[in-house]
Amino acid sequence: MNKNQKWTAPKIRALKGKEKVVSLTAYDYSTARLMDETGIHIVLVGDSLGMTMLGYENTLPVTMEQMLHHTAAVARGVKHALVVADMPFLSYQVSMSQAVENAGRFVKDAGADAVKIEGGAIRQEAIRALVENGIPVMGHLGLTPQSIHVFGGYRVQGKDPAVAKRILDDAKAIEAAGVFAMVLEAMPADLAAQITEAVEVPTIGIGAGPKCDGQVLVVHDLLGLYGETSPKFVKRYAELGTAMKKAFEQYKKDVEKGSFPGPEHCY
Ligand code: KIV
Repeated sequence: MNKNQKWTAPKIRALKGKEKVVSLTAYDYSTARLMDETGIHIVLVGDSLGMTMLGYENTLPVTMEQMLHHTAAVARGVKHALVVADMPFLSYQVSMSQAVENAGRFVKDAGADAVKIEGGAIRQEAIRALVENGIPVMGHLGLTPQSIHVFGGYRVQGKDPAVAKRILDDAKAIEAAGVFAMVLEAMPADLAAQITEAVEVPTIGIGAGPKCDGQVLVVHDLLGLYGETSPKFVKRYAELGTAMKKAFEQYKKDVEKGSFPGPEHCY
């Protein structure tokens, strides 16, 4: 792939079996621009921004307007990666016309290239409606955070053989409906490996082991910016939270003792 080219949904789909798909979440222009410069394939504007950017306890309160605002900022920073916008809770479940209208706003108004929706066989109709109307869809199975109240919390999904079978069937169902890729979140690595074998679209894991066709992480987790501790599946590649706090403390001290601004900062 030429570094100047733009990733599209069909190109991401074609990576299956050839190259690992690399994805991260981003919620703002500057972060998205830096990510894009590394050549990653997908920048996901996750509704996790409800927690990492807006301070909600979970993703459920996130609105269409909030997602559009952050998606547009990310899209302005990305030239090459595929920009995928997460459809928020209740923006695609109520009716097909609402799903198409809302998904369309991400593409038309915010500059997204595709949308992501959570759920399995129950989402077939919505996936078909979006794809038929020109909007590529990424699926999301396993621990789907918009269903935490049904799960009773953030729990690994698919340890129970009956649930594992249902998730595998869901993967086949959303593939048949037309997703170009699917996120597999918080499930046993063996189940994710089985799904990866069973479908012809890339599986992108988060807490789903190494056999997935690609990986995604929440950028705040990777950078050590959210929470004292991280879930087991997160690798913290930096401790920016600690570095930021140190910088803020130093700035406060400098202002208090009058050493900032110095002569070099004055006109
Ligand atoms: O909202 C999000 O960030 C996500 C990822 C965890 C896949 O859905």
